[in-house]
Amino acid sequence: MSFAPQSELHLLKQGRRSYPLQVTRQQLPMHGLPENCRGSLLAHLTDFHAGYGGTDGVLQWAAAFVASLEPDLIFLTGDFIDDHYKGAGYPLQQLLAPLHARMGVYACYGNHDHRRGLAEARSALEALSIPLLVNEAVELADGLWAAGVDDMYEGRCSLKDALHNAPSDRTLLMLSHNPSLLDSAGEEDMVIFSGHTHGAQMHIPFPSPELVCRVHLRCNQVEGWYRRGVTRLYVNRGLGVTGFPIRYHCPAEIALFELVPAAAPNAGGEAAAENAAQEASSCRQTG
Ligand SMILES: [Fe+2]
Repeated sequence: MSFAPQSELHLLKQGRRSYPLQVTRQQLPMHGLPENCRGSLLAHLTDFHAGYGGTDGVLQWAAAFVASLEPDLIFLTGDFIDDHYKGAGYPLQQLLAPLHARMGVYACYGNHDHRRGLAEARSALEALSIPLLVNEAVELADGLWAAGVDDMYEGRCSLKDALHNAPSDRTLLMLSHNPSLLDSAGEEDMVIFSGHTHGAQMHIPFPSPELVCRVHLRCNQVEGWYRRGVTRLYVNRGLGVTGFPIRYHCPAEIALFELVPAAAPNAGGEAAAENAAQEASSCRQTG
């Protein structure tokens, strides 16, 4: 797998419409990556909004596709059931049941989970033994940690609580539904995996995706990579829809990352050049 991002587009069915879903694949250089995690495959899914917009087939396809890859690690960053879903109980457990990973499947809440009530998402995840990381951290492998925070606007998000039991020399992967964590995280050496924005869901000249996210969602980020100091953020466009139930020039997304060791800051050679090239080409600087 090259360090350059790759992608493939799938056209799925949303009723009589075509629903675009992009699978993105890229390498993720990490300092302090344990040797036995070198080359591990991380799959990131977010913003299912199950029960809304006629996307059941899309969500089922996505779960089966990710399962077929046999990933080492899976992150689910919230908005499991849309708060417009009026059914008695969405079969979320059935939807997520295919997802298994050697190092585990981990989840955090999104704002829609808080709006609908957290019980449905929590009971489905508990039944599948998928830990919900609500301001807490777990060690995945020797020195590699995953942490998660509650939703920033509708939950009680505490980065301090999330990291209280993680050692200072950790290598850290962070689940945060809301990408705005980047703006308040200080200079924490971590990679944040977020959703929430849906990439603005519809890309039209006005209002622009940036304006939609800033005004409607109070987010300075839209999609893809961002960076503030040593903190990196990936914003996944998500799987489902909310509000106006279509995507326009803004495909849904399954994000795949191959974990690779980053070159030491003072290292030379090909590895350092590749790391620098990836960071220069993919990250928007903020702050
Ligand atoms: Fe969402």
